[in-house]
Amino acid sequence: MVRWKVQEEIKRAAEVICQAQKTVALTGAGISVESGIPDFRSPGGLWERFDPAEYGTIQAFRANPDKVWKMLHAMSALMKKAQPNPAHKGLVRLQKMGKLNHIITQNIDNLHQAAGATHVIEFHGNYRTLVCLSCGQRFATEKIEDGVTPRCDCGTILKPDVVFFGEQIPAGLLPESYALVSSCHALLVVGTSAEVTPANTIPYTAKMAKADIIEINLMPTILTESLTDIFLQGEAGKIVTALVHEVERVQSQTRT
Ligand code: APR
Repeated sequence: MVRWKVQEEIKRAAEVICQAQKTVALTGAGISVESGIPDFRSPGGLWERFDPAEYGTIQAFRANPDKVWKMLHAMSALMKKAQPNPAHKGLVRLQKMGKLNHIITQNIDNLHQAAGATHVIEFHGNYRTLVCLSCGQRFATEKIEDGVTPRCDCGTILKPDVVFFGEQIPAGLLPESYALVSSCHALLVVGTSAEVTPANTIPYTAKMAKADIIEINLMPTILTESLTDIFLQGEAGKIVTALVHEVERVQSQTRT
């Protein structure tokens, strides 16, 4: 059950989305927590188990890939069995209603696509592909044997095609994302602490273009006080579901 105050804010957010010609979403690890994948910085998050300085940088991967693969195996085991939750499905519903354009995600878990989403920009890559840092060959994750560090035909240890700290965002995705949010009227920010750059510059770019920022998170973030117009506090699954219902209600009213 969504608290009354939040319900009022959901009404406001639904109005904004219904009036917006173009709405874009930016998602983070928080949207997949209800699918059984812990986020990074919350209590019990991945970076509590694995020190990002030892496991999350490209330097750490190059220096000791076997060690980093211990974390990667743990992550891919969780991601392999994870299913899209009501928040992922709700965004697909908004896309199907023509009320949501692109989804820019920091997540590598493929759950937006698994829910049926289209126009997904994978800002930090996707765990389902492996790449050889020597010869550039790519492989599907099916190649991974549990607990075994995967190697390329050329003998080099393979890396998941995801962005480690110290690596560039995949080519073209940053200007593409900036262009999208510079022409949107509303940005739906779901389940991100907005602590990692350059992804956390996207909401500011949207704001500079006078977009309304609607933020969904369990807790306030660095965006909430400085940038957010409507803050919907709660679990993404419940809040997105309630928001979609409200958009459908407003849509049906405008039709009659
Ligand atoms: N519903 C809504 N929000 C949630 C939920 C939930 N069920 N569970 C957690 N959250 C929120 C947390 O309060 C937090 O603000 O999601 C946010 C997750 O933040 P992070 O763990 O920092 O994840 P994210 O913002 O995606 O991290 C960005 O950092 O570690 C790197 O490359 C990694 O893509 C990742 C990037």
